[in-house]
Amino acid sequence: MFQKEQQAIEAKIRAYCAQNDIPLSTLKWSPIPFSGEWGISTSFFQTAADEARAGRGGKPVPQRAQEIAEQVKSQIGNVEGISHVEAVKGYLNLYFLTSEYARRVVDEILASRADFGRGPVKNERVMVEYAQPNTHHSFHIGHARTTLLGESLARIMEFAGFDTIRASYPGDIGLGVITILWAYDKFYKGQEPQGVHERGQWLLKIYAEATAMLEPKENETPEEKARREACDTERREMYRKWDAGDKYVRDLWLETREWSLEELRDILSMLDIKIDVWFYESEVDEPSKAIVEELLQRGIAEDERPQGGPVIIKIDEKLGLTKEKYRTAVILRSDGTSLYLTKDLALAKVKFKQYHVDRSIYVVDFRQNLHFQQAFKILELWGFPQAAKCYHLSYGYITLPEGAMSARRGRVVLFKDVADEAVKRVLAVESEKSGDIPEGEREKIAAQIGLGALAYSILSVDNNKDIVFDMDAALSFDGRTGPYIQNAHVRANSILKKAGAVPEKADFSDTLDPHEIQLIDLLSRFPGTVEQAANEYRPLVMAAYAHDLANVFHSFYHAVPVLQTDDPKIRDARLRLVAAAKQVIANALRLLDIQAPDVM
Ligand code: ARG
Repeated sequence: MFQKEQQAIEAKIRAYCAQNDIPLSTLKWSPIPFSGEWGISTSFFQTAADEARAGRGGKPVPQRAQEIAEQVKSQIGNVEGISHVEAVKGYLNLYFLTSEYARRVVDEILASRADFGRGPVKNERVMVEYAQPNTHHSFHIGHARTTLLGESLARIMEFAGFDTIRASYPGDIGLGVITILWAYDKFYKGQEPQGVHERGQWLLKIYAEATAMLEPKENETPEEKARREACDTERREMYRKWDAGDKYVRDLWLETREWSLEELRDILSMLDIKIDVWFYESEVDEPSKAIVEELLQRGIAEDERPQGGPVIIKIDEKLGLTKEKYRTAVILRSDGTSLYLTKDLALAKVKFKQYHVDRSIYVVDFRQNLHFQQAFKILELWGFPQAAKCYHLSYGYITLPEGAMSARRGRVVLFKDVADEAVKRVLAVESEKSGDIPEGEREKIAAQIGLGALAYSILSVDNNKDIVFDMDAALSFDGRTGPYIQNAHVRANSILKKAGAVPEKADFSDTLDPHEIQLIDLLSRFPGTVEQAANEYRPLVMAAYAHDLANVFHSFYHAVPVLQTDDPKIRDARLRLVAAAKQVIANALRLLDIQAPDVM
């Protein structure tokens, strides 16, 4: 807000230090929490310590830091917008005129609008990989977690200034996929239902049936056993044919794969998500085998095939670790087939070499923690500098109050069902109170609220914690929910609508109410919150902020009259403040992939 003034002051500090041969370290400013005035502060401890290290000290560091702060302070003089300057305990504190600070925060928001909070261009490319269910069955509620966490993170990174690529990597091959294919071909060919979601769900049903069929049962008769084994042989034969590129199997596989992808695309578009790059597990299978050769030649991997074993990498040993941490990884089975890990090595190479990715983020559940630790370490041994900027955003389960899910058992809660149910419930309430919502808009707004509730209930929980999804709680207008935040946006909008127009400018020189102060304070923290969420790869930071902001706005709304104010000057200032709050709530919600309706 005070960049120009800050720069001018920094220039004075630098000039002074240069003249006096003080080895000034980089000036880092941090905000001073409001206590009657807003301000920023920097310290001179580092500078004093550098001086001492250079043998030019003589005084204890804290004492010298304070001395520098005082000397620098005397150089600053009067600066417009700055109320006063302090040198305390080695810190230099600049305080802003409250009215000026408030005006600038609001003006900047209303000038930048949807761009308020956008970070400076970072000249770094990041790829966020998420929304990657395995194909050949349906999208369940657990997949919503990778999808929403990934999308929110991608939005945050992009807004923070990173060149951002959104990628997905569906698992489209493996024994599970082949099992479905086999059962479909054998028992159901030609019976597939129509409809984007029906087909996925139907494949899931086949999967559960086939798994049950192939599992050894208790008290199995010899005939049952023989039948089961014959089925298993057939299925493995089908995998072999797939591997050999058999046209029939490949066509069948591609056709059914497309069903799942259609469903996935439908859900993504419902959530307003556009994936830039699609990778498929099947496509990195061949390249991964070549990588095994490369890693062998480079002496990173060890070949135990001559003794009938696999190809392995002794990660701990290669890193010189004596304690077991990353263990030994198999990268090629003795039968010559590659593994999930091997494919990830091939995929990473494509990301680095072909897409020139500097940072690579994987939004995948916690069961793959060790997998990614191993993958990143192997990439490091292999010599990719980007390995240091690979990050696994791990997350826990989503369960429903009724219990855990299992795709193999056909016991899953489908995302589409939960989303439809959420929207249906909102619609029922809406029609009850109907009120401000035009008839034709109801469905659209119900979808915004229902999906917003779902998204927020996922993003507002620490990624490492499990979520027990409770529909009633998520849809509530009170508490930590999406609708509670959306409702703050709606209230701000209703004030502005009644007012007609937002004044072009206003001054904040009248004493501010504590609710106004709190609101301005939070609004001014939005850019810093974007940066923090991006630095920590944590959408939760933004989710918590959005709730705090809504909370403060609701309190302001109840306590501070805006349209009822007699003083036109105060009214103008408050109207602009409300417009600014509405904008920042919308910006924060956007980063959470939640819509901000004007009415609800
Ligand atoms: N399809 C995988 C699964 O469902 C997730 C893919 C994770 N990404 C990766 N690069 N390994 O478990």
